Amino acid sequence: MQSSPDISSRSAAQVQINLGERSYPIVIGGALLADPATFAGLPRAAQALIVTNTTVAPLYASTLKAALQAHFTMVHIVELPDGEAHKTWETLNLIFDTLLAHACDRKTVLFALGGGVVGDMTGFAAASYMRGVPFVQVPTTLLAQVDSSVGGKTAINHPLGKNMIGAFYQPLRVVCDLDTLKTLPPRELSAGLAEVIKYGPIADMAFLDWIESSIDALMARDATALAKAIQRSCEIKADVVGQDERESGLRAILNFGHTFGHAIEAGMGYGAWLHGEAVGCGMVMAAELSRRLGLVNADFVARLRALIGKAGLPVVGPKLSTQDNAGRYLALMRVDKKAEAGEIRFVVIDGPGRAAVRGAPDALVREVIDACCV
Ligand code: NAD
Ligand code: GLY
Repeated sequence: MQSSPDISSRSAAQVQINLGERSYPIVIGGALLADPATFAGLPRAAQALIVTNTTVAPLYASTLKAALQAHFTMVHIVELPDGEAHKTWETLNLIFDTLLAHACDRKTVLFALGGGVVGDMTGFAAASYMRGVPFVQVPTTLLAQVDSSVGGKTAINHPLGKNMIGAFYQPLRVVCDLDTLKTLPPRELSAGLAEVIKYGPIADMAFLDWIESSIDALMARDATALAKAIQRSCEIKADVVGQDERESGLRAILNFGHTFGHAIEAGMGYGAWLHGEAVGCGMVMAAELSRRLGLVNADFVARLRALIGKAGLPVVGPKLSTQDNAGRYLALMRVDKKAEAGEIRFVVIDGPGRAAVRGAPDALVREVIDACCV
């Protein structure tokens, strides 16, 4: 287990993720990136590599580099092309090219500075370079701060399926600097709110009540509201991952809305819909499936749909085919990682605040898709 950063003198919050010797803190607060103390207590190494992208680098890479220079003799930066469409082998190789060009050894620490795309790729690079080097997540999107940077899922996409090539590999620390959210485009803020909303129906209805009453403050980027949303989201995720790190069961509930959502992302072409947008719409579809399975009532679905809409997210599914739209969704969903022997497994709401994973008859799923798509 790594020692913690020195946050005693600042107003940062910490959530601990408990995984035995792979336990680590998630630090949440303002002005963390520029403060060398944020990065105290990491393993000693001569070199560090900041992995970021062409959008985030001009905003934050030099600030992070200056803070890291207090701890590492050499701090390199690699800028990846921006976007989900670049979450590929070719882009991953740019990280390995940089590590090898600088003769980085197996003590080198990688820092993922960016959203979920950078975080997932950096984590996978860290898992595989010299069979594993340490890495730190420095998420700069709301989605990455509440979900993708936490829990150790790393991956790249394959043309036939999203996040299909990857590894479970935990970071040493997650640093969520709230100030980075000030530059986030509004569409990306909404995408992050989809993953925040997700935690309510699957685990904590009181949190869902709070999100409903705070949605205007969250959309206005009120720092107190965002800090609470990130902290509670991370607490719920830490609890689930602490019980089921490798998704042998429980962890799958974190994929509420993702089965439909991944079909939307793949069917529309990666990058056309943001991941969070697809998840937002996918949650409406999964809630509607839950209703048709007799697990929740129509008021629950309407409530969730209204909140997702207020968060600026789509609530109506796109048509993925003009011929057989539901058939196209079904074909794409069969590639989902939760599918077993060709049977699609859905995360459903099994009563408010409780999730379950189960199959559903194709005919019923077709009805849901027909009802939810334009
Ligand atoms: P993203 O990484 O593409 O970032 C969104 C956009 O915001 C990008 O253009 C990025 O350059 C830009 N950006 C990032 N930070 C910024 C900032 N502070 N200011 C201005 N612009 C900024 O998308 P995302 O929504 O962060 O992550 C989505 C990815 O995360 C998907 O690939 C998804 O599969 C993955 N994901 C992984 C997990 C997991 O558990 N590993 C969970 C959820 C999602
Ligand atoms: N985002 C789902 C998970 O981490 O399991």
